[in-house]
Amino acid sequence: MRKSLTRLPAWKALGAHYKKVRSLHLRDLFTNDPDRGKRFSREAAGLSVDFSKHRITQETLRLLITLAHESGLPERINAMFSGEKINVTENRPVLHIALRAPKSRKIFAGGRNIVPEVHTVMKKMADFCSRLRRGQWKGHTGKRVRNIINIGIGGSDLGPVMAYEALRHYSDRSLNFRFISNVDGADFAEATLDLNQEETLFIVSSKTFTTPETMMNAQTARQWILAKLKDERAIARHFVAVSTNGNEVAKFGIDPNNMFEFWDWIGGRYSMDSAIGLSTMIAIGPDYFYQMTAGFHAMDEHFRTAPFEKNLPVIMGLLSVWYSNFFGARTMAVLPYSRYLRRFPAYLQQLAMESNGKSATLDGTIVNYQTSPILWGEPGTNGQHSFYQLIHQGTQLIPCDFIGFCRNLNTLRNHHDMLMANLFAQSEALAFGKSVDEVIAEGTPAWLAPHRVFGGNRPSTTILADRLTPETLGNLVALYEHSVFTQGVIWRINSFDQWGVELGKVLAKRISDELSTPSNPRLQHDSSTNELIRRYRKRR
Ligand code: F6P
Repeated sequence: MRKSLTRLPAWKALGAHYKKVRSLHLRDLFTNDPDRGKRFSREAAGLSVDFSKHRITQETLRLLITLAHESGLPERINAMFSGEKINVTENRPVLHIALRAPKSRKIFAGGRNIVPEVHTVMKKMADFCSRLRRGQWKGHTGKRVRNIINIGIGGSDLGPVMAYEALRHYSDRSLNFRFISNVDGADFAEATLDLNQEETLFIVSSKTFTTPETMMNAQTARQWILAKLKDERAIARHFVAVSTNGNEVAKFGIDPNNMFEFWDWIGGRYSMDSAIGLSTMIAIGPDYFYQMTAGFHAMDEHFRTAPFEKNLPVIMGLLSVWYSNFFGARTMAVLPYSRYLRRFPAYLQQLAMESNGKSATLDGTIVNYQTSPILWGEPGTNGQHSFYQLIHQGTQLIPCDFIGFCRNLNTLRNHHDMLMANLFAQSEALAFGKSVDEVIAEGTPAWLAPHRVFGGNRPSTTILADRLTPETLGNLVALYEHSVFTQGVIWRINSFDQWGVELGKVLAKRISDELSTPSNPRLQHDSSTNELIRRYRKRR
């Protein structure tokens, strides 16, 4: 039987090593190694990543990499890329990497090379987008479509919204993009308030085409269109679908020719560069979309082939393990210094936490170590004037990822220098802090000194790219995807299922039936839930 994670030699060695390095201060690490900034920086696939402000030594990195080998990471990477059914609880391969593979590549699922299918769908999307962007796709009354509304939730929403926001600079400004995800009617009402049905196209994005929130919103959209256009034939002009479920799409009344397919070997949260990215492609056009997939592919290749000591996603993933399991860090912050990346932390929350927020290992045993940290963040510099206080002086250790760009997309006075100065200043302040001696030397009275001391030694990664381009976005997303996979392999969990969302779904269905038949007084929940339902029924 395989040794449990905590019994692996590298894990034990890391435990012993942690005791030696936990009291080392980044100040001393930098003083003792003037080249540290360079030594712990890596460049690959369009990104340069500085890991030097982490509480690690060369030995830490060596031990973490040994842990990766003892955990079988090379074999697992190979298994994923070669189409093995590594999503064991759903008996599926995990092949988002095929979505960005060049035509010449062969990747097999169930004995079939799937790369040609991916390119066929991509071509169909590109044709559709070009027609729409040229104004050749008309609504039912012959008006040009100007409003595109994506209806979807989870992976069928967060990727499209994030990518639309991130790549807005490249988007066609004559088109309006809206995103409806929440079943809260406010989402629908607000998204459609100022729009004309005749000029509006809905993309119903759902892998399963059964997700209740999405189906409810899609039906409401149907009614909204029909209320004005009063003709069932309008549905075919105002709805397209992205799904793996052709039958349900047809039942909804969407023309199968207007369905863009994807496959069960792509997880929802790994699907933004599949047909789920249709709204992205409409916004930025096929060429930029292909540049984005090329960015993903460059990072895939780096992850697949680079030795671990140079491998960005591997090092990033291992550092997350280092802080989660040895320092006991519970959360990590992602802090993009770019307004365009304002939805990036929300996107990463699903990617990381739906993937690795689990307690059962692949063989069904329950872990005796921590798995996914809680991920959160906001764009700088807004976060600085909000929660950074806690990161600097609070009682918790919160590793941070800073993301910045050397060149800006909007040349406006010296905004960008100021923005980037803040990024560099934050990581410097976190790492080195300000000692009590320094504070006193500045003339601070003794009683105030403790409040003005910054302990420092707070770790961060800085990710820099040249500019925020579609390609860079692909580089960045794939970096996190593979880092999440690396963590899942070390923790021995299946990063590609999401059973944790099931129970709530089942109960919501039952309660929703109870709310719609209030005459049935028999509620058989716990006394709290029963009481809440009764109160709601009375006041609704
Ligand atoms: O939240 C559970 C989940 O299955 C996610 O993994 C997925 O991204 C989301 O629901 C939406 O699913 P679908 O695309 O099938 O509507």
